[in-house]
Amino acid sequence: MLNYKKSENFWFTNLGCLSKITSVFLLSMIFMACEDDDAPADTFTESMFVEIPDGFPALDFPEDNAFSEERYVLGKKLFFDPILSRDSSVSCGSCHRPSRAFGDMVPLSNGVGGAIGNRNSPSLANIGYHPYFLREGGVPTLEMQVLVPIQEHSEFDFNVVLIAERLAHDPIYTAMCQKAYGRDPDPFCITRAISTFERTLVSGDSRYDQYAFQGDISALTSAEINGMDLFFSEDLACSSCHSGFNFTNYSFENNGLYEVYLDKGRALLTNQPDDEALFKVPTLRNVGLTAPYMHDGSMETLLEVILHYESGGVKHVNKSPEVKGFELTNQERKDLIAFLNSLSDYEFINDPNHQP
Ligand code: HEC
Ligand code: HEC
Repeated sequence: MLNYKKSENFWFTNLGCLSKITSVFLLSMIFMACEDDDAPADTFTESMFVEIPDGFPALDFPEDNAFSEERYVLGKKLFFDPILSRDSSVSCGSCHRPSRAFGDMVPLSNGVGGAIGNRNSPSLANIGYHPYFLREGGVPTLEMQVLVPIQEHSEFDFNVVLIAERLAHDPIYTAMCQKAYGRDPDPFCITRAISTFERTLVSGDSRYDQYAFQGDISALTSAEINGMDLFFSEDLACSSCHSGFNFTNYSFENNGLYEVYLDKGRALLTNQPDDEALFKVPTLRNVGLTAPYMHDGSMETLLEVILHYESGGVKHVNKSPEVKGFELTNQERKDLIAFLNSLSDYEFINDPNHQP
């Protein structure tokens, strides 16, 4: 069984842990990031690195971190470079793999020294649209989120100030940081460049998109269309949570996995009983590529997931009333799975801009 223990992962969502941040650099960077929240955002439309798909809203880049090609190139190099981890063995891309829509194929990923984390690595497709990060939603910006895996013992087990020192010894990185942000490698440059790359991970060219937004009514088979109708039906209620262009309303819900959760979900952040075992509703885009499923990677297949919702899940005081159970025929289950698989975007995973 999973042994969930509260860890430094939450050090800037939990004020009690703030004393762990000893670096002045780090603190000043975090406060700058906080101030930026209120600043007007730069609206990004299109470039050779990201195209906003039909049916998607514009993508906002923060004012202090507008898109530039230099920032993107640096961020991508950092994302795939194990130099960010203590023993230079693990990169962001080790757990967020392009071929898996920037998720992983194991229930829990390995960090430095093979250490195992507490949660399943989520897909980063369309991450630039999320209003907050992690499954309890405690991190407000992508820039701040970069610090989480850097510190986490089961991920990079390192420190952003030490990473900056490492990069400063590398003339290539020094030149790239100068070009991108007009400064030598430092936490500001590292967190912002990686976030710029992450914001370009936009996925909206699945066959479902071709059918729904690009006017190609032949893009889905009749089985997939039947599955789509089931998905959006009131009876199944999937789209009461997995709604909108990114198939999530970003709310925190309990979908009835356990009577007793080892992972307290949103309550880790708020300490409120009403938030116990609530998790951010995940996107279902590329879900055919991101098995295993759920916060702990406990479900291996989409069939398992559907049988779970059919059963109505197990009793929990915070279980959503929308998870109430329903009945499907074998064929309907297949159709629903076919629809979920039609959300896979192969243009996205094969895009040369997304490879190391
Ligand atoms: C050892 C595996 C591992 C590594 C390395 C790793 N991550 Fe993650 N990442 C995870 C896991 C697991 C989660 C889910 C944590 C949670 O939900 O609380 C996550 C969550 C995220 C999220 C939030 C997703 C969401 O839906 O809210 C972002 C963004 C992210 N990682 C980016 C990165 C970046 C950038 C790096 C490199 C600096 C990185 N990750 C390195 C495993 C990893
Ligand atoms: C009450 C809101 C709600 C409803 C209704 C709902 N889900 Fe979910 N769904 C969630 C939450 C929350 C999770 C994540 C749980 C976790 O991380 O443990 C999830 C996870 C999933 C996952 C796993 C995704 C991943 O990347 O791990 C799939 C697939 C899924 N749901 C499909 C469906 C389908 C199909 C339906 C309709 C039959 C449905 N959901 C109905 C809230 C909901």
